[in-house]
Amino acid sequence: MDTARKVLVTGGCGFIGANFVRHLHRTCPRWRVVNLDTLTYAGNLDNLQGIEEGNRYRFVKGDICNTALVEEIFVAEQIDTVVHFAAESHVDRSITGPAEFIQTNIIGTFTLLEAARRNWQDQHRGGTHPLFLHVSTDEVYGSLGETGYFRETTAYDPRSPYSASKASSDHLVNGYFHTYDLPVMITNCSNNYGPYQFPEKLIPLIIHNCLQGRALPVYGDGKNIRDWLHVQDHCEAIAAVLEKGAIGASYNIGGNNEKENLEVVERICDIVDDRVGPLSSGEKRRSLITFVTDRLGHDRRYAIDAGKIKEQVGWQPKITFDEGIRKTVDWYLEHQQWVNTIIDGSYRGYYEKMYGNREILPPQR
Ligand code: NAD
Ligand code: TYD
Repeated sequence: MDTARKVLVTGGCGFIGANFVRHLHRTCPRWRVVNLDTLTYAGNLDNLQGIEEGNRYRFVKGDICNTALVEEIFVAEQIDTVVHFAAESHVDRSITGPAEFIQTNIIGTFTLLEAARRNWQDQHRGGTHPLFLHVSTDEVYGSLGETGYFRETTAYDPRSPYSASKASSDHLVNGYFHTYDLPVMITNCSNNYGPYQFPEKLIPLIIHNCLQGRALPVYGDGKNIRDWLHVQDHCEAIAAVLEKGAIGASYNIGGNNEKENLEVVERICDIVDDRVGPLSSGEKRRSLITFVTDRLGHDRRYAIDAGKIKEQVGWQPKITFDEGIRKTVDWYLEHQQWVNTIIDGSYRGYYEKMYGNREILPPQR
């Protein structure tokens, strides 16, 4: 992308944000990126090791809800583009403690929108059209049955505190477009996986537990379906939307990789067995699979129709699940030190929090 932009990336030390900052660093040498991240449990400076502070990159540790700080960054850095990732992102945590989701996802988005509104009244600063890209989720659409797909026209029907907070922020973003003409775009993507994902989400959690020989908790009957999107494909989609997307539009981003959870877990077990051999007991890792009580309000199926972004922006996913999951397991195998340093034991996981540890022991034989 040729136009030099001054981008505020929020949540750039998290999973997708860090992959995106790395992507911009590789592909947009003329852009300046300011990364505003308060470093919650999910934020980690190690995710950006190798990206040095200087003309192209600056890190600011701070909260997106801090109006004065956000204003200062907009003014000092002459921000013309916002790519907003910062959020509380884990559904299970939103069930056991929703307050932070309301604060960061709703109030935080509102704070950023207000700063953009104030600072972009004179819209054509330096010839670069300002843009506010809000990164959201397909979970705002609720839950599908066995058939059908989420389209951009699907009615919102969020069903968890997490998805309700994201839906709320999407509505605010749209409200600022219609009311104040703020130049916004929204992307609603499916479940991401890949390097630097905090091991509380299904895929990195299962890889980690496989390597530790621990129980692999599968919620309910394991037949819930997610559409898996490799984070590299997602970063390319966001970059394409920034370049070619229409102001005021939203785009669904999916991986064309619908899988039942149990299938995902079994695939990871087989790849880990293949890479490091069976468990010390000689058993295969599938023996660690443990069905546990279902998540409260567990959405059954998510599936994205990514036709609009393909037609209007020219993006489609390139990474098959088979390729992406092998690469992801290999990345975690090669980055065990990264995993070990971020797991500090402060979050004991949804299951221990809800039920103690009675359900997460591997099946006894
Ligand atoms: P993450 O939890 O890995 O990272 C979130 C980052 O935001 C962390 O670095 C954290 O420190 C930072 N943050 C949190 N609260 C903050 C605050 N108040 N101020 C500043 N920084 C704060 O999340 P992720 O998986 O990278 O998701 C990024 C975005 O993409 C989120 O908006 C999420 O809703 C959306 N999304 C994620 C997925 C997915 O599968 N991971 C799918 C769809 C949409
Ligand atoms: P998750 O990675 O938390 O993403 P989301 O809830 O945003 O889709 O979960 C993906 C799926 O895996 C979801 O259907 C819940 C299920 N799941 C398990 O079965 N066991 C687990 O330990 C976790 C974390 C998730």
